[in-house]
Amino acid sequence: MATGIATTLLTATASAAPSAGAPGVGDPYYPYAGNGGYDVSHYDIRLTYQPATDELAGTTTILARTTQELSSFDLDFGLHTNSVLVNNVPATFHSDPKENGELVVVPKEPLKKGQAITVVVNYADTPSKVVIDGYTAWKKTPDGALAVDEPQNSQWWFPANDHPTDKATHDVSVEVPDNVSALSNGTLVRTTKQRPGWTRWNWRSTQPQATYLTTLEVGAFEVNQVTTPDGKPFVTAYDPALGESLDAAKASVERTPEIDSFLATQFGPYPFEAQGGVVSTGLTFALEAQTRPVYSNKFFVAGSNTSVVAHENAHQWFGDAVSLGRWSDIWLNEGFATYAEYLWSEHEGEGTPAELAQYVYDSHPADDPLWKVLPGDPGVANQFDDAVYDRGALALQALRTTVGDDAFFTILKTWVAEHRGGDARIDDFIGLAEQVSGKPLHELFTTWLFTTGKPAVGPNGTAAP
Ligand code: ARG
Ligand code: ZN
Repeated sequence: MATGIATTLLTATASAAPSAGAPGVGDPYYPYAGNGGYDVSHYDIRLTYQPATDELAGTTTILARTTQELSSFDLDFGLHTNSVLVNNVPATFHSDPKENGELVVVPKEPLKKGQAITVVVNYADTPSKVVIDGYTAWKKTPDGALAVDEPQNSQWWFPANDHPTDKATHDVSVEVPDNVSALSNGTLVRTTKQRPGWTRWNWRSTQPQATYLTTLEVGAFEVNQVTTPDGKPFVTAYDPALGESLDAAKASVERTPEIDSFLATQFGPYPFEAQGGVVSTGLTFALEAQTRPVYSNKFFVAGSNTSVVAHENAHQWFGDAVSLGRWSDIWLNEGFATYAEYLWSEHEGEGTPAELAQYVYDSHPADDPLWKVLPGDPGVANQFDDAVYDRGALALQALRTTVGDDAFFTILKTWVAEHRGGDARIDDFIGLAEQVSGKPLHELFTTWLFTTGKPAVGPNGTAAP
C-alpha cells in the first residue's frame, strides 16, 4: 500500500509506453531502497529453514498492482533465485545482489498500468553468506538465526518492495526442526506437522507493515503465549542462553501490556492486533518489529530495563503505524520513542520529561558531539546517532514548552490518527503542530532539528547556565 509522496512522484513520472520500473523510490539516503512502478498489498512468505546448515528455501508470493506500464520491474532481494512467475507465466530475471540487492524481473509480456499482479519467487540460499554492499543483516546464531535489522533486513530472506512507503500485510510460514521455534509478527495462526522432525509455524500480521519491520527469529527459545487484559495475544520468547539476565529480561518484557496501556493514554489506542517481545543474545541492539519488538540481552544484563521496552513499544505508534516517508525523517521514529521513555519514567515516579530533558541539555557542553549532528537530516552514517534520539527528544520537550501540554498531546494523538497505516514526513509534522497550536513553529524546529550547535535556549525555555 503506497501512500503519500512516493505514489505522487511515481504517477507523475509514469509515461505512456511500457518502461522499466525505477530501481528505487528516490530516497536520498538509500537510492536502491524500494522500487518504482508497483504497489504491494500482501506478502505470503513460505519457507523451510535448517539452522545446522543455514539453508533457507521456499517461495514468496507477492500480491501487487502496477502504477505504470512496465516492461520490467525490480524486487529488492539478495538470495539465489530459482524461478519467477508473473501471473503464472515464467518471467526472466537477473540480479547483481552483491552490488545493490536488486532482482530485475522481465515479464513475458509488458504489464499494463493499474493491473493486479501475482509474483511468485522461488529461492534457496545460505543467507549468512550473502553480502550486499559490504553488509549482511542476517544474524546466524548457534541454534538458529535472526532476520532483524534497520533500515534493511528483508533482502536476506524475502523479495520485497523494501521501503516504508509501501506497506503491506504479511503471512510468514516457516518450517524448522522440532527442537527450535520460529517467531514472526502478529498472531500465531497455527503450527502444523507435515513430516517427522519438523514443525511449521504460521504467523499473520494483518495491518500495513513496512518490510524492515517484518522479522523472523529461529532458535531454541522459551516461548510463552498469554492474552492481554484487552484480549490480544501476547507472545514472548527468551533465548536459553540469557543465563542470569533471564529474570531481569522477563521482569521488563512481561510488563509490555501495562506499558502499552500507558502509552495508549498518551498517543491514542494501541495500533495493532498483538503484542510481545523476543530477547536474544544474537544481536546488539533492539528493533521495534511490528507487534513484537526484538531485544538484545545486553539491555538486561545489569537488571530490569523497562525504558527500552517503553522505547520499542512507542515505535508501534511512531515508526510502525506511522512510517517514515524518507529515511532522512528518522527523527519521527527515534526522537519520539526517546521522548516516550521520558513519559514512562514520570509514570513510574522517576524523572519527569522536563527534568530528563534539562539534564541532557545541561550535561552536554557546547562542544559536545551531541550538537554536531542534525536530528532532522543526520545523514546515512549518523542515522542512529545519539543526536537523533536525545537531541530529538529535547526538540519535542521544546515544542511542549512552546505550545503547552494540551496542544502537545493533541498534536501527538492527531498525528497518529491521521497517518496510521501510512507514512509521513517531518514537514507534515511541523505543519500539524502549527495548525493545532495556532503558533508559528518553523524557527523552533529549525533550531532544534536543522541547526548545528547547542541551542541558546534550553528545552524548558531557559538559557544555558
Ligand atoms: N530502531 C532501533 C531502536 O529503536 C535502532 C536500530 C539500530 N539499527 C542497527 N542496525 N543498529 O533503537
Ligand atoms: Zn528507537
